Amino acid sequence: MATLFVNEHQTAGHIEPEVYGHFSEHLGRCIYEGIYVGEDSDIPNENGMRKDVVEALRELQVPVLRWPGGCFADEYHWRDGIGPKALRKKMINTHWGGVVEDNSFGTHEFMELCRQIGCKTYINGNLGSGTVQEMSEWVEYMTFNGVSPQADLRAKNGHPEPWKIDFFGVGNENWGCGGNMTPEFYANEYRRYQTYVRTYDKKAPIQKVCCGANVDDYEWTEGVLKTTFRHMPEHAHGFMDFLSLHYYVHPEGWRRKGSATKFDRTGWYKTMNKALFMDELITRHGAIMDRFDPDKQIGLSVDEWGSWYTCEPGTNPGFLYQQNTVRDALIAGITLNIFNKHCDRVRMACLAQMVNVLQAVLLTEGDQMIKTPTYHVMHMYRHHQNADLLTSNLTGTKPIGPKDWQVPSLTESVSRDKDGVVTVTVANLSDEEDQDLTVRFAEGISHIEECRIVTGEGMADYNTFEDGEKVVEKDHEACLKDGAVQVNVPKHAVVMLRLK
Ligand code: AHR
Repeated sequence: MATLFVNEHQTAGHIEPEVYGHFSEHLGRCIYEGIYVGEDSDIPNENGMRKDVVEALRELQVPVLRWPGGCFADEYHWRDGIGPKALRKKMINTHWGGVVEDNSFGTHEFMELCRQIGCKTYINGNLGSGTVQEMSEWVEYMTFNGVSPQADLRAKNGHPEPWKIDFFGVGNENWGCGGNMTPEFYANEYRRYQTYVRTYDKKAPIQKVCCGANVDDYEWTEGVLKTTFRHMPEHAHGFMDFLSLHYYVHPEGWRRKGSATKFDRTGWYKTMNKALFMDELITRHGAIMDRFDPDKQIGLSVDEWGSWYTCEPGTNPGFLYQQNTVRDALIAGITLNIFNKHCDRVRMACLAQMVNVLQAVLLTEGDQMIKTPTYHVMHMYRHHQNADLLTSNLTGTKPIGPKDWQVPSLTESVSRDKDGVVTVTVANLSDEEDQDLTVRFAEGISHIEECRIVTGEGMADYNTFEDGEKVVEKDHEACLKDGAVQVNVPKHAVVMLRLK
């Protein structure tokens, strides 16, 4: 029997809504087909955006969306994606599948998508192959409210009002696809480029994201911070608001990756173990950040995370299309619990990617759309957005799994929202054993508002276009005894409780 002790009188931080963000790249069928089908499509759409997809994303309360990449961002030239669609350049998407990119989804369409979803905007600029002038003019085009060449061009293209950029990435993965730079070289470029990412509306400052490390490249974090902060003002705001981190779970390693749907017990535990590695990454990159930024002015933005398997047989390998099983539900549950617990530093995160790519929350085929197990977990966890993290401590769990890939049997996080409702989320990492859990409070609670679960009969269950309801969010039983909650957390399940 495991016990979770919650001190409802002790707040341990605030969970920013942006920790539940998403990422959409011009990659495979994410933007085209998955989100944008064009105004003339037979698929129901509003201004070209699929209605079914937008509705599902609104239900998820997506707080922020990152675009246009990824690797694509450092080859994206924004002028190709504005103006009359018939005149926009057609080109090859060299990074992803060698298909034609017709630029019919550009800046105006992205802003329209965010308007429909009701989320903040995170634009990733091109530092790798673009100029300072190009980046600076894109920001002017999007946000300047007055007479200027770029604001006039925006008006000519049908949008006199400026938009708001909430977050702006100054390059992406510049240690790799974004220019193969050394940390010192990138850091100097960052200093220069960010200077010209101007906030024109002082009431709506653009928060700048500096390119952080790939996985456990601590040298990158150290090198970038050392150079960026040399002789810079003590206050990071306006200079650097976030440092990013990218980490993907590949059960069989980067080269082999492994199947999304066919795996054994070892494959299950390898994946759980690798998902938990996120905790160490945040702790160690965070410790380096603490030295340069002890007041934690700079947030860590884990703006690419999730599973990355061998793509589905028969699909374009450059499209990164994969299925999503109960195992992915667990990756999401584990990772989001980790982010919540590190909310003092992790202030933004974007799941990769939103539709039809990697650990997507939605899959589409023609006019059909299904929600993945990951969608349902993110839906349950939406209550953590903008809530206060509460101090919590699990006892009575045990290490489980094969010797080299052991993991704790349960992970959890607890928060309280502005209405005083406490959300507890628990993931059972076992492939074979249910767990009885007691949730105790300093004073006790009096009411269970809701208990929900995401799981499947098998650990590799997933939804298909024939059966989209195999793994869904369901009601689950929990009872109250002397102010404590008793709940059974079945094997390979993620459970959410709402308590008052
Ligand atoms: O999400 C797919 C790719 O993974 C992104 O384009 C890149 O940033 C990362 O390497």
